[in-house]
Amino acid sequence: MVTINRGLDNVYMAETNLCFIDGATGRLLYCGLDIADLAPHSTFEETAFILWHRRLPKQGELDDLRHQLAENRPIPPEIFELMKALPKTAHPMDVLRTAVSALASYDPELYQNTPDANLRKSIRLTAKFPTITAAYHRLRQGLSVVKPDPNRGIAEDFLRMLLGKDPDELSAKIMDICLILHAEHGMNASTFAAVTIGSTLSDLYSAVVGGIGALKGPLHGGANEEVMKMLLEIRSPERAAEHVLNALKAKKKLSGFGHRVYKAYDPRATILREWALRLSEKKGDTSLYETAQAVEAVMLRELKEKMIYPNVDFYSGIVYHLMGIPHDLFTPIFAMARITGWTAHILEYWEDNRLVRPLDLYVGPTSNEYVPVGRR
Ligand code: CMC
Repeated sequence: MVTINRGLDNVYMAETNLCFIDGATGRLLYCGLDIADLAPHSTFEETAFILWHRRLPKQGELDDLRHQLAENRPIPPEIFELMKALPKTAHPMDVLRTAVSALASYDPELYQNTPDANLRKSIRLTAKFPTITAAYHRLRQGLSVVKPDPNRGIAEDFLRMLLGKDPDELSAKIMDICLILHAEHGMNASTFAAVTIGSTLSDLYSAVVGGIGALKGPLHGGANEEVMKMLLEIRSPERAAEHVLNALKAKKKLSGFGHRVYKAYDPRATILREWALRLSEKKGDTSLYETAQAVEAVMLRELKEKMIYPNVDFYSGIVYHLMGIPHDLFTPIFAMARITGWTAHILEYWEDNRLVRPLDLYVGPTSNEYVPVGRR
C-alpha cells in the first residue's frame, strides 16, 4: 500500500504564494509576476521586497528596503578574522557556510522568532552575503578587503568589492539580472533543506546554513561551476559534438542540462542566453558562447525525446566567466540571490508551521539476534 516517491518526486508539502513554475511551457512567476518582466525592468532589491511581502513595493517602501540592505552590508571584524584563519584553499561555498553560521552569534535578534524580527534577519543576511563572498576572495589572494558602498545597489557593489574597481554598466546590469533570476525557484532541494530545518522551529540562520549546504551540490547550484569546466575543456564549437556524444555514450549527465520540473527550455536560461551573447560581443570574444551554442544544439538533437533542455546554470557560468569572476564563486553568487527565496519560504512556512517528518519504508530484517562482541 506504500508509495515511495524517490527524491520526493511529485510530492506537495505546502501551499505557497511565492513561486509558480510551469514546467511544461517553461514559465516562472514570482508572486504572480513573470520573470520575463522582472529581469529587464526590476532590480534585485525590488525582487527581494516582492518575495518577502508578496506584492510590489511603493517607491517609499523600496527606498526604505534599499537603505536597510545598504546599511547592513558591513560584517563584524571577527568574521574577517575567521575567514583569514581558514585555509586559502577553502572553497568559497564552505567559507560562506561557515561565516553565516558564525554570524548568527552576532545577531541580536537570533532567538526573536516574530515575523518582523525574522524579516529583519532576512534583510541582514541578504545584505551580508555579497560582502562575505567578495571579502573572502580578496583575502585568499592576500588583497585588502574593499568596504561596501551604501550608495550602490547590491549587484554593482558586489562586483566592485570583488574586483576592486567600478564594474562597467553592462556587467552591473547583467549581475542584477542574474540575482533576480536566481532569487527563487519553489521547493527545490536547498529551499526544502532550509524549510525542513525551519520546521523544527530552529533559528533562521541554522535554516540558511542548511540551504547553503544543499545548494553546493553539483546536481543543484554547483552545476554552473561544472558547466564552465566542461566548456573550457571543449574549447571550440567544432569539438562540441564529439565531447557531447562521448559523454552521452558513457551515460554521463551534462551539467547545465535537464531539470526535475522543467520539461521545456528553462525560461531563466532563455534570458541569460541573450545577455551572454551581448556580453560576449562587448568583450569581443564570442568563442565561449559559440561553444555553448554548439553543445546545446547537439544536446537538443540527441535528447529531444527525453525533453532535456539547458537550465539556468548553463548560461550563468558564461556571463560570470566573462565578467572575470573565478569559477568557484559561481555557486556563492547563486546563494547571494537564493537567500531571498530561502528566507521568503521559511517566513511563509512559519505562518502555519508543521514539523517536516516524512517516513521511510523499513525493508531490513526484523529478528536479528544480538551476539556479544566477543562471540562475533
Ligand atoms: N545530461 C544527459 N542526460 C540527462 C541529463 C543531463 N544533464 N539530465 C537528465 N538526463 C537524462 C537521464 O539520464 C534520464 O535518462 P534515462 O531515462 O534514459 O535514464 C532522463 O534524462 C531523465 O533524467 P532524470 O535523472 O530522471 O531527471 P531528474 O529529474 O532526476 O534530474 C537533474 C534532474 C537536474 C538532477 C539532472 O537533469 C541533472 O543531473 N542535470 C545536470 C546537473 C544540473 O545541471 N543541475 C542544475 C539544475 S538547475 C539549477 C538548480 O535548480 O540548482
